[in-house]
Amino acid sequence: MRDDFQDIVGRLDYPMLVVTAVAGTGADPERSGCLVGFSTQCSLDPPLYAVWISQANRTHEVAAASDHLVLHFLSEAERHLAELFGQETGDEVDKFSHCAWRPGPGGVPILEGCSNWVVGRVLDRRDSGDHTLMVVEPIEAHSSPFTPLGFQAVRSLEPGHPA
Ligand SMILES: Cc1cc2nc3c(=O)[nH]c(=O)nc-3n(C[C@H](O)[C@H](O)[C@H](O)COP(=O)(O)O)c2cc1C
Repeated sequence: MRDDFQDIVGRLDYPMLVVTAVAGTGADPERSGCLVGFSTQCSLDPPLYAVWISQANRTHEVAAASDHLVLHFLSEAERHLAELFGQETGDEVDKFSHCAWRPGPGGVPILEGCSNWVVGRVLDRRDSGDHTLMVVEPIEAHSSPFTPLGFQAVRSLEPGHPA
């Protein structure tokens, strides 16, 4: 059963995001971000979006304390951000010293190299297996025509943090 399940979900395609977060408001807040494939819009009115963050990731602890998350919807041309945020872990590397960003609401990092992003206020968090569901309400966004970077295009990347 498990192999068949893996076979099915391994063939699906869905958009890849980089989710960023910030914890702490002092002089030295902690910023974190990771590549995310598990996500979906989950309400129309009000508009809400859900992402699932692995409890093993550095980003999990930071996102658990972050009032806002930024959802960066990657285009095919922004693959380098998938490689940086999906293959490196904040336990070892300061990813934000390897890319351009600016602070958004509450200091949450908005990546300059991504044209399609949504700043969301975190409304809810729930355990969901080995990931945590985080539901956000969009409060700011920027869009531009793009071809989404899909899971199938990056599935061979080696995750920076073991699951
Ligand atoms: C194709 C792909 C999909 C991924 N999907 C998710 C996901 O949905 N949720 C998640 O928390 N991590 C996901 N990851 C794993 C993290 O992006 C990765 O382990 C990252 O290095 C964690 O960084 P951090 O420890 O700094 O948070 C995915 C990685 C890859 C390569």
